[in-house]
Amino acid sequence: MEFEAVIRGRRSIRQFTPEPVPQELIREILDQARWSPSWANTQAWSVYVVTGETLERLRSAGKAPNQREAPAGPDFRMPREWPPYLAARSKQLYDLRAATAPADTTAPAAAGSGEFYGAPCVLFFAAERSLASDYVLFDSGLIVQSVCLAAHDSGLGTCIMAMAVRDPDALRELLPEAAEKQFVVGVALGYADQEAPVNRFERQRVPLAELVSWAG
Ligand SMILES: Cc1cc2nc3c(=O)[nH]c(=O)nc-3n(C[C@H](O)[C@H](O)[C@H](O)COP(=O)(O)O)c2cc1C
Repeated sequence: MEFEAVIRGRRSIRQFTPEPVPQELIREILDQARWSPSWANTQAWSVYVVTGETLERLRSAGKAPNQREAPAGPDFRMPREWPPYLAARSKQLYDLRAATAPADTTAPAAAGSGEFYGAPCVLFFAAERSLASDYVLFDSGLIVQSVCLAAHDSGLGTCIMAMAVRDPDALRELLPEAAEKQFVVGVALGYADQEAPVNRFERQRVPLAELVSWAG
């Protein structure tokens, strides 16, 4: 794919088909993405590929969230409120998404956020815990974007999900190798249901003139 088609064509997919993603394809995507830049080339990130039975366990927990008596909360602070101009952009997204809900309310609900939108695979990104710098989040974002672009280039859909890591203790229980890591996001990965309106609404972006200031 042309670079511009990849960067503009990638979009968050919120309804996946159940078709599994071949392990070799996941490997290729991650093999490309590991060339992302990071502070002093520290690459302080780890990726956990979760599929099959393990993912189903997480999905069932997602249907009935907050079963833990006192959930510790996410490893990184999540925004609770925005200044009005950012809140307006967020509202715009939620309005566009709401408009894609099926008119027939008796239709079976599609897999929601807690079920990773039905994705057959979720990549969990975790970062080294001992780093005293917020830039580890920046680095993680770079590799996450690389994964999303490489996946799109390979015909796969993704959705970056902070919601997927809101109970990181449950993830650490399920993924013992991650005991000493902090979870940044999950990325739902799979084949997009191309017909689903939630995957087709026209997205908005701030115009260049509002985004950029020039000096000199
Ligand atoms: C850090 C981060 C966390 C996100 N968390 C979620 C999430 O939990 N659930 C979700 O549906 N989308 C989530 N998104 C996707 C954003 O809503 C999406 O990227 C944004 O609306 C722009 O749309 P696009 O990805 O289709 O271009 C997240 C994106 C980022 C970068």
